[in-house]
Amino acid sequence: MYTKIDGKKISSDIKLEIAEEVKNLKEKTGKEPHLAAVLVGHDGASETYVSHKVKACEQVGFKSTLVRMEDSVSEEELLSKVDELNNDDSIDGFIVQLPLPDHISEDKVIEAVDPAKDVDGFHPVNLGKMTIGLPSFIPATPSGIMELIKRYEIETSGKNCVVIGRSNIVGRPVSILLSKKGVDATVTLVHSRTKNLEETVRRADIIIAAIGIPEFVKESMVSDGAVIIDVGTTRVKSDKTKSGWKLKGDVDFDNVAPKCSFITPVPGGVGPMTIVSLLQNTLQSFRQRN
Ligand code: GUN
Repeated sequence: MYTKIDGKKISSDIKLEIAEEVKNLKEKTGKEPHLAAVLVGHDGASETYVSHKVKACEQVGFKSTLVRMEDSVSEEELLSKVDELNNDDSIDGFIVQLPLPDHISEDKVIEAVDPAKDVDGFHPVNLGKMTIGLPSFIPATPSGIMELIKRYEIETSGKNCVVIGRSNIVGRPVSILLSKKGVDATVTLVHSRTKNLEETVRRADIIIAAIGIPEFVKESMVSDGAVIIDVGTTRVKSDKTKSGWKLKGDVDFDNVAPKCSFITPVPGGVGPMTIVSLLQNTLQSFRQRN
């Protein structure tokens, strides 16, 4: 029997903890944490993610501001909005939802965010600090993954951990966190150019699937008793849901789960944890600023 990791439950537990702390902080300071999100264009997935982030702010008593900009916005205009948010004292942290239109450099925008307000943890200063173990904002998805591993008391020390995918947002940072002192996993990062990928994944005690290809991880790639964290959230059309879309993970769940000790579902696994991590980062920023 495998344990289905309940990210929804853990995330609502943490939201209650955050809401309690917000109440106390508000009594002390008269203020509540304030998160802003910049959404460029009308990409369906980004609209959904940002609306979940705004809703989560309401649930825990944060203030939130949604800044909408059209697809046609120039890089200069977006950079000037970032500058404005950097200098707005009423805002504790903000994110610029990715991806951005092709004519805007994501790197430039990320580097323009004040590292002290970079609650996404994407700025090179924060990634650099995280890499050498200094306090910093940890990117939300990797942070949510580590929290799930911790709360389910999954042993990481000396375990073979294979991370599939090398994105700056998930694969690379989570590989760094898993190899940290105190976590102590032996980490292999595999990607599109990896030779013998299947064989490497088969040797894993813990698999982090963050490649963005639906059902990429098949039963034949998983050894008995493995722990699987599925970060995939590809939207596919569906006539069975109200929205007309459903989310597919990177793991062929139905066939793989019976071989696992622990596995996260999609949806309801990593996704809700990502949002909670963003709230935790914003709370951390609020505390530092007050
Ligand atoms: N796009 C997909 N995930 C993320 C995220 O965690 N933060 C931002 N800003 N954009 C994203």
